[in-house]
Amino acid sequence: PDFRIFPSAAATADAVAAYLAERLAAQPDIRLGLATGNTFVPVYAALVERYRAGGLSFAGAASFNLDEYVGLPSGHVASFRAYMQSHLFDHVDLPEGKGLLPAVDGDIEAGCRNYEAAIAAAGGIDLQLLGIGRNGHIGFNEPGSAFDSRTRQVELTPSTQQANKADFPASEAVPPTAVTMGIGTILETREIVLVAVGATKAEALQMAFRAGQTPACPASALQSHTRVLVFCDEAAASLVR
Ligand code: F6R
Repeated sequence: PDFRIFPSAAATADAVAAYLAERLAAQPDIRLGLATGNTFVPVYAALVERYRAGGLSFAGAASFNLDEYVGLPSGHVASFRAYMQSHLFDHVDLPEGKGLLPAVDGDIEAGCRNYEAAIAAAGGIDLQLLGIGRNGHIGFNEPGSAFDSRTRQVELTPSTQQANKADFPASEAVPPTAVTMGIGTILETREIVLVAVGATKAEALQMAFRAGQTPACPASALQSHTRVLVFCDEAAASLVR
């Protein structure tokens, strides 16, 4: 991959937002693949700031998020829909209905098939944002996920549930299952921008890009993709440089 290393988490987020703004300006009808999580909070904040400063529009764009929890009431504060609304969609001119997340109510298998079909009907994803789990997961594709997996319902590992606990009210458990785009779905996107900050991500980056490909580290599948940019800070990059 093409590593772009910055001195701090804040500088990394700014650089990612600048890159996204540049890509959006070059391709106003861009199909974005979006991610949630702590890593992207300052990225979306910087992007909204750029939008407010003018010259940036999402009016022709569409987006597909990587994943969503199963079993939360709609509008739940820890849902990825709520995250996307509050960090990005409510603040920019992305048209209503153009920011999609996997459907998690009703017939989940049908929802997964429809999500894949919607991505295909949009012409595929031009630019996919990815975070990375400490265990090397991408989306909610946990270790052991097949590299040709598609959008499907998955079980979250205890470590991932633990990592995301802070997003939930103290009295509530993290849902045990979610729907995620598959690794195969992710590998079909035209360009991948993976963002990792902090020392807790250093080993995951090392396993992903400086060791052999193995389903034990889902992100190592990205070694097969021809256009991967990794934006990271010095702390996350400590074992890959
Ligand atoms: C989020 C997602 C996850 C996160 C990963 C890192 O949509 O699919 O793979 O990107 O768990 O999360 P943070 O950024 O909270 O460390």
